[in-house]
Amino acid sequence: MNWFVQMMSSTIGRKLLMALTGLFLILFLVVHLSGNLLLLKGDSGEAFNTYAHFMGNNPLIKFISIGNFSFILLHIVYAVLLTIQNKKARPIGYAVESTKTSKWNSRNMGILGTVILIFLVVHLQNFWFQMKFGYVPVDAFNNKDLYTVTKEAFGQWWLVSLYVVSMVFLALHLSHGFASAFQTLGLNHRKYTPLIQFIGLAFSIVVPAGFASIPLIMFFSQL
Ligand code: HEM
Repeated sequence: MNWFVQMMSSTIGRKLLMALTGLFLILFLVVHLSGNLLLLKGDSGEAFNTYAHFMGNNPLIKFISIGNFSFILLHIVYAVLLTIQNKKARPIGYAVESTKTSKWNSRNMGILGTVILIFLVVHLQNFWFQMKFGYVPVDAFNNKDLYTVTKEAFGQWWLVSLYVVSMVFLALHLSHGFASAFQTLGLNHRKYTPLIQFIGLAFSIVVPAGFASIPLIMFFSQL
């Protein structure tokens, strides 16, 4: 057990944990987006509410959800620990900020992550908290009508704007995080690294764009 504590206190252990939790959260985003796209099906929320009911009541999904929240927490805690560690190692900072070798987003993952965290708090309050602890009417199939909650939320221009802007920050965070996680896991190969970088870039554009499209379409159309 001692080796595990030692490992998790070392820089490489912390980076490994950031990478693994980050990859799990990337997987979560794919599942979450796939389910949320049902909001755009044009069936007055029938498919989405059925999906949300399944996700909220299936014991296995409930277990995964606890894992999901734990991983989000670990990802944040270890990000803070690594930032403090880096600051201690270099309290003054570089005299000349490197521009060519490291991109803005890779140097500002903490800022990007903080904006995403603020988005997440607002988001969970809007939907998750509402579903678990608030009053949500039921639809014709006796499922909680989360579709109507979402539709009403995305009828507000400022919330739609918050979602769209936050997705730009998510895209920037992912565009560094995706490839960086694979590099931390040791996958550094002349042939495969450019492919991973390409998939990472495509992912960080497509997934946030998919999320941003939902409030935009719901706001501008009659869905
Ligand atoms: C238009 C975009 C989005 C919509 C409509 C949406 C909708 C929802 C809804 C309805 C819930 C509560 C029901 C459920 O757990 O499935 C939820 C939960 C959640 N959302 Fe979103 N979401 C969006 C984007 C995002 C993004 C971009 C993130 C992360 C950066 C995110 C993270 C979460 C998390 C962590 C939960 C709690 C999941 C759990 O119970 O394990 N969501 N979302």
